[in-house]
Amino acid sequence: MTFAVTVQPAARMRGRVRPPGDKSISHRYAMLAAIATGPSTIHGYSTGADCGSTLACLRALGVPIDQIGRDPVTGLDLEILGLQLGGLQRPSSTLDAGNSGSTMRMLSGLLAAHAFRSMITGDDSLRRRPMRRVIVPLERMGARIMSDNGRPPMTILGSGRPTAIDFQPDVPSAQVKSAVLLAGLHADGMTRVVEPLPTRDHTERALEAFGVQVERAGTAVAIRGGQRLIGGTLHVPGDISSAAFWMVAAAALPGSEITVEHVGLNPSRTGIIDVLRRMGADISAIVGHPRAGEPIGTLTVRHGGLVAAEILPGEVPGVIDELPVLAALATHGGELAVSGAQELRVKESDRIAALADGLRRMGGDIDEQPDGFHVRGRNRLRGGEVDANNDHRLAMAFAIAALGASGPTVIHDAGAAAVSYPDFFSVLESLRA
Ligand code: S3P
Repeated sequence: MTFAVTVQPAARMRGRVRPPGDKSISHRYAMLAAIATGPSTIHGYSTGADCGSTLACLRALGVPIDQIGRDPVTGLDLEILGLQLGGLQRPSSTLDAGNSGSTMRMLSGLLAAHAFRSMITGDDSLRRRPMRRVIVPLERMGARIMSDNGRPPMTILGSGRPTAIDFQPDVPSAQVKSAVLLAGLHADGMTRVVEPLPTRDHTERALEAFGVQVERAGTAVAIRGGQRLIGGTLHVPGDISSAAFWMVAAAALPGSEITVEHVGLNPSRTGIIDVLRRMGADISAIVGHPRAGEPIGTLTVRHGGLVAAEILPGEVPGVIDELPVLAALATHGGELAVSGAQELRVKESDRIAALADGLRRMGGDIDEQPDGFHVRGRNRLRGGEVDANNDHRLAMAFAIAALGASGPTVIHDAGAAAVSYPDFFSVLESLRA
């Protein structure tokens, strides 16, 4: 969707929000339910287009999925009838992952373990993204994968009996780790992934919730193939990466206070809380009972002034999706330097170039480096016209920057927000105070 939205400056933002179901966790619960034994019920499944792409692909692989409920706030309720390990069926047409890198990379792990040929593609943005990082390990496990020079579409000729491997990816990536583990579930023996830096561990926790034994030590994770997954009832926590926009809005504008409820607080995703505190925000957290191994709680964020901060390479995987909105925060009078974030260049857009371009068009002061950026928020933004570049997180980050400008900001391609947060712009308006 390519419509434009005009965002007016805001005095302050106040209120309570329940963010949409976590996108990362939604993908994983659907994929694991699809290969489990017996039915699963998933509550609070993300309404974002990316998670819809995962469901469409799974349906094309023969998985019966019924939507039994839909709540505008809590998300979708789904019933998925698992086809058991190795039970996916050859699709009759090309699988379409849309804009979703998670769908394409993680599903490729399952496809690599099934003895049929399938093709998976995506939209213009996804077709520019690197896939060699999954092709290399999955070929070592016995699949044959054709691609357009390491980019989608990928044609995958799966092996019915993948080989277990020990794999050390060059880039820290939860999607790559997950693809290898999902293929490894179908292998004989132990498959092990050792990452250069820890990444989000939702796959590990979800596997355990489905009854699979997972061995973990430091940044190593291993599973023995052939373990049965048992279907069950799962609840998806709210997405902290979506909540991050409101957390930053509250931290940015004096007099603001926003509470986000039922939000996932998995420690591999809460780097945003640490960075916001370092930048001056006042944050209180109430942690509730975990569900399916995922901690959930309520966060209240208040403006507490803004100071300069730095994000170093080791911290990047824990805030990778929040870096655009943290750059937006710095434009409100703070300062932020980020390094070791070259992965941002191969996300839904080149997020370093597109962020720098957009913030400059609004009057921002930002330097671009190959692996990061430096934003100085000394001068107030004036607003202007920016392009989200078909990138949901940029559309939303520009909106949060726009709240502090002296004039309105027109965000082209703002409809991209629907990839992870369909109601983003109406929630934004409801929080003005
Ligand atoms: C995700 C992992 C991260 C993240 C993406 C979702 C996941 O990507 O940026 O939005 O669900 O595993 P990488 O695996 O490419 O780092």
